[in-house]
Amino acid sequence: MARISPDIIDRIRDSTDILDVVSEYVELRRRGKNYFGLCPFHTEKTPSFSVAPDKQIFHCFGCGRGGNVITFLMEYEKVEFVEAIQNLGKRIGIEVEFSKDDKKKEFFTQLYDLHTVAVKLYKENLQSKTGGKVRNYLKKRGLSEETIDRFNLGYATSSWDQLFSVIASKDIPDDVVQKSGLFSKSDKGVFDRFRDRIMFPIKNRGGRVVAFGGRDLGGTSDAKYLNSPETPIYNKSEILYGLSVTKDAIRKEKSLVVVEGYMDLLQLYQHGILNVVATSGTALTEKQVNEIRKVTNVVYLAYDGDVPGRKATIRAGYNLLKGGLTPEIIEIPEGLDPDSWIKNKGTKEFTKAKDRSIGLIDFHIKFTELDLSKPVDRSQLAREIIDEIVNVKDKIVQQFTLKQITELLSVDENTLVGMLSRKSRWINKRRGDQIQVVDDWALNTSFEKAQRELICLLVSNDSDTISFIKKHVDFDHFTHPVMKTLAERLIQLDSDNFTSHLSGVLDQFEDKSERELAARLFFETTTQRNPKQVAIDCLITLEQTPIKQSISEHRIILREMEKKGEDTSNTLSEVVTLQKALKTLEQKRVQMLNL
Ligand code: CTP
Ligand code: MN
Repeated sequence: MARISPDIIDRIRDSTDILDVVSEYVELRRRGKNYFGLCPFHTEKTPSFSVAPDKQIFHCFGCGRGGNVITFLMEYEKVEFVEAIQNLGKRIGIEVEFSKDDKKKEFFTQLYDLHTVAVKLYKENLQSKTGGKVRNYLKKRGLSEETIDRFNLGYATSSWDQLFSVIASKDIPDDVVQKSGLFSKSDKGVFDRFRDRIMFPIKNRGGRVVAFGGRDLGGTSDAKYLNSPETPIYNKSEILYGLSVTKDAIRKEKSLVVVEGYMDLLQLYQHGILNVVATSGTALTEKQVNEIRKVTNVVYLAYDGDVPGRKATIRAGYNLLKGGLTPEIIEIPEGLDPDSWIKNKGTKEFTKAKDRSIGLIDFHIKFTELDLSKPVDRSQLAREIIDEIVNVKDKIVQQFTLKQITELLSVDENTLVGMLSRKSRWINKRRGDQIQVVDDWALNTSFEKAQRELICLLVSNDSDTISFIKKHVDFDHFTHPVMKTLAERLIQLDSDNFTSHLSGVLDQFEDKSERELAARLFFETTTQRNPKQVAIDCLITLEQTPIKQSISEHRIILREMEKKGEDTSNTLSEVVTLQKALKTLEQKRVQMLNL
C-alpha cells in the first residue's frame, strides 16, 4: 500500500469534522448529542444511522456498519484508504502525496483505470475506419459530434478480444480483470463482454466511469442493450445515468426530468433540456431517489408512451413519493418516447406537455386498467394506492394524497383512513419484530459487560478515570479480542488530542467486522454518575470471573469424586483457596474505593 506520513493523516483528521463530511451525503437530524439519518448503506425507512461528533465516528444500529470519517468515505465512495485521505486533504487544502516509486495500485484504482482504458479504446474505435458505420448510425439518430463527445460515446468492435489484448500488456491482476465486468470467461479463454455495440459509459456521482451500457447495432443480438453486471465499483441501484454531467444544470433549473433510456437523455440534452437523468430502464430505487433529493425536489417523469412506460411511471412515482418527493408526470404521446418525439418535433411540444404535467394520483387513475365505473374496481384501486402511500414518510403528503383519492374516486374518507391505519399498524408490527433481532447485546454475560463498560469509560475522555484504570487494569483479563485490543490502544491515547485520535484507533483494525464492532462499542454512551465506582466494579468483575468459573468447575469435579468415593480433601482445599481469593478481591474493592 502506498504510504502517507502519519503526521499528515493526523493533521487531516484533526481538521476534518465527520459531521460536515457525512452531511454532504446523508440528511442528518440532531437527537441529543448525536445525529441521525437514513443509513446510506442499507435500505431503511426510519433513521438508525448515527453520527457522534464528540467521538468523530458513525454507527448504524440497523446494519452494523461503522467507523470514522475515513472509513465512511472508503465505503461510501468505494475507494481505498489512500484515496479517502486525499479526498479529505483536498477539502482542507492539503495536497497529499506519496512516494512516486510506489506503483502498486490498489484494487479499486485498478478497476477504475481499466474502465478509463476501455473508454479511450471505444472512443478511438468510433473515430476509426471500422467506426464509420456507427458514426452514420448515430448521425441518423440525430446525435451531434458534440453530444457524442460530451458523453464519451464509443464503439466496441466485433473483435472477440480487442480490449483484452490492449490490457494484456498492462500487468493487471486476474482478479481485477475478472471483477471488472468487462470480460467473459469460457473454456476457450477470456473474451470481451461487449462486441459490436455502441458504448455508453456510465459514471458514478464523482464522474468516474464505472460501467457501460452497450447498444446492439444490427439487431443481431437478443438483447438490444447489454449492460455491465454489478461489480465492486458499480452498484446499479445507486446510479443514475447522466447525473454527474447534469447535476449542475439540475441545481440551476431547480428541477429534474427523469427519462428511461440513454438515447432519451442524450436527445433532451442536445436540445437544451439539460436537467435530465435516465434510469436506464430499471425501477427507480430508494437509493436513486436519495440521490435525486440531494440535487432537487421538483421531479418530472417522462417515460415512454406505451403500457410498460406508464406502468414504470406509476412505480417510479410512488417510490419518489415515499422518498419525500411529489412527482409531476409528462405525458408522452402513444407509441413515442422522448427521444423520437423531440427528434421529430423539437422541444416545443415537449415543453408544452411539461407545462400540462399532471400529478401522480391523477396519472394513476387516468391509466389504470381497472374499470372505474364498477365499485369493486374503485375499491381495488383505492387499496392499491393505500398500499403505496402507507410507506410515505411525510404525513402531510400522505394526508393530501388521501384527500385526492377521496375526491377523485368519490369514496368515503373515513373508510380510507381506516384502511390506511390498519395497513400501517400491520407494517409497524412487522418492523418491530425485525428490530429485536438486531440487538444481541442483551445476551451478554456480566463478564463481557464489564469489558464493554471499561471501554466506554476509556472512550469518555475523563482523564482521572482513565489513569485510574491504567493503574489497575490487567489486559490479560480481557477475553474478547476486539475489546482487548481496544483497551490497550485507548489507554495510550494522549488526552490533548483525544477525539481525533480516538477515531483513528479504528483504522488499526484491518478486519471490517472487528472495526464495526469497535465503532459500535464507541457509540455506547455511559452516563455514569460515579465513573470511578463503575471502573472498580468492572475491574473486580474481570478478576473475579475466572476465579468463580474455576470454583464451579471444581464443584462439578467434587461431585463426581464423591460419587466414586474418592478422597476429595485436596480439591476441597483448592476450592477454599479460590474462595479466599474472592474474598481478597472484595477487600480490594473497598480499598480501591477509598483510594
Ligand atoms: N434497457 C436495457 N436492456 C434492454 C432494454 C433496455 O438495459 N434489453 C435499458 C436501456 O438503458 C435503455 C432503456 O432501458 O436505454 C430504455 O429501453 P428502450 O426504450 O427499449 O430503449 P431506447 O432508449 O428507446 O433505445 P433505442 O432508442 O436505442 O431503441
Ligand atoms: Mn425508449
